[in-house]
Amino acid sequence: MVPQTIVEAPAVAATFMVLTVPEGKQTQATEVIGNLPSIFRSVEFREPEKSLNLVVGIGSDFYDRVYEGPRPAHLHPFEELKGDRHTAPSTPGDLLLHIRAVRRDVIFELADLILREFGDAVEIADSTDGFRYFDDRDLLGFVDGSENPRGQFADDAVLVGDADPHFAGSSYVIVQKYLHDLDAWRAQSVEAQEDAIGRTKLENIEFPDDKKAADSHVKLNTIHAPDGRQLKIVRDNMPFSEFSPNVKGTYFIGYAADPGVTEQMLRHMFIGNPPGTTDRILDFSTAKTGCLFFVPTQDFLDNQPLKGSGAGSGDSGTKATTEKPAQAAKAGDAS
Ligand code: HEM
Repeated sequence: MVPQTIVEAPAVAATFMVLTVPEGKQTQATEVIGNLPSIFRSVEFREPEKSLNLVVGIGSDFYDRVYEGPRPAHLHPFEELKGDRHTAPSTPGDLLLHIRAVRRDVIFELADLILREFGDAVEIADSTDGFRYFDDRDLLGFVDGSENPRGQFADDAVLVGDADPHFAGSSYVIVQKYLHDLDAWRAQSVEAQEDAIGRTKLENIEFPDDKKAADSHVKLNTIHAPDGRQLKIVRDNMPFSEFSPNVKGTYFIGYAADPGVTEQMLRHMFIGNPPGTTDRILDFSTAKTGCLFFVPTQDFLDNQPLKGSGAGSGDSGTKATTEKPAQAAKAGDAS
């Protein structure tokens, strides 16, 4: 099973597009989903840098509407988290398109072609254009992404393995769109901002454990398995901004082999650890959206186990495919 290309160098530009599929449009939508690898290739082949990347995610309700056979073990709708002071809302989302490249023109081209192909089979719930801000800083001014796992550790963190063999090579992703109150954030001293994050601002050095505030972002997002292993996810957050209306924020995206890891981090942030000790960055950041998606393998996209097709019976990997998977085409071009 060939995974989609999830782990990438931090993006230079990205578009995060969450789509919904109206009732009665699912057949039309799944035809386009099966065609996405081909649409991807038509743009990627023309891009000199070969940096274009597309990851497709599928929401829980949509999955149940169109697919048959075994179900991904951890696929469920994003659950709202309501603490005393902060809420992480759950918002609609049947499909996620996470498009990354070093050039915005190719992102536009791919997104536009995909949307034209979908036609009225989808509605846009949210589309956010992210940009790299200097040395991978968020709009709070801190370098974001340093503690992401790399290489094999990253693959281990995001790819489903033996725990759910039918879906080995798949992944899960949670997205949230945060708006920042930057006036209030900037009104704090740099020291107070560093306490909120748990790292220094200029040099990006992590505070020693005994110096991290209990409500710091890093402290609350450092979680461990019962055997003591640190549990990691792979993030590729991006700042976004519009000047009219004046919105500035962070688009959070977290891939994991088990979305329960990301959900535990979110519980720490929004409910608190211990309950009540919530993430200080939430006093300046409001979550506006929240969705969870299954990230299937390329084989799944090529040969979707559609209801009535018999492909869900477990033989999906053995059926002949006519399309070369999107990222396999990328690898082939490089060789
Ligand atoms: C670390 C920013 C939301 C999980 C960090 C760091 C920054 C940051 C600056 C420190 C550097 C690093 O990346 O290692 C933000 C901003 C967010 C946001 C601006 C949205 C407003 C989230 C959410 C989660 C999360 C929603 C999880 C559900 C993590 C994790 C780390 C981290 C796991 C690394 C902790 C460690 O091992 O040191 N984030 N983050 N972040 N964040 Fe976030």
